[in-house]
Amino acid sequence: MTEPKGELAIRTLAMPADANPAGDIFGGWVISQMDIAGGITAAARAHGRVATIAVTGFTFHKPVKVGDVVCCYADIQKIGTTSITIGIETWALHSGDSNTRIKVTEGVFTFVALDKNGNKRPVPPE
Ligand SMILES: CC(C)(COP(=O)(O)OP(=O)(O)OC[C@H]1O[C@@H](n2cnc3c(N)ncnc32)[C@H](O)[C@@H]1OP(=O)(O)O)[C@@H](O)C(=O)NCCC(=O)NCCS
Repeated sequence: MTEPKGELAIRTLAMPADANPAGDIFGGWVISQMDIAGGITAAARAHGRVATIAVTGFTFHKPVKVGDVVCCYADIQKIGTTSITIGIETWALHSGDSNTRIKVTEGVFTFVALDKNGNKRPVPPE
């Protein structure tokens, strides 16, 4: 696949502080960016607070390097009663070669709509 699936949800820069001891970007940082991207998308659809309940089908395809521009794309796959399931793809533009982007990770994140007390609530109609 040469094109990202979904809408651009966040775009950020991989910094030296996000690297692992080998010098590549720490996988947990990438996962957190994807969780943020999915959370923004889910909260917009749920018209309010959401929490991540599950992450499945996660794959690290390629390493992310310091200086890469990291873009997370969100594709809403399913609206349940209280849950929203979103496929997230992360694509990286390597520093010095902003014309080439590659898919580095993907995963499926499920969010649950919450009320102000942190209890689940139905996802409202669009
Ligand atoms: C979110 C929370 C309030 C949901 O309460 P709950 O009683 O566990 O909810 P349920 O088991 O009824 O599941 C709620 C929805 O999530 C879905 N769900 C539950 N477990 C799931 C899983 N492993 N994978 C995919 N979907 C799942 C259910 O199918 C349901 O969807 P639906 O209403 O659209 O059919 C509760 O689980 C919670 O607070 N979890 C912690 C959330 C959190 O802190 N996240 C941040 C982690 S750092």
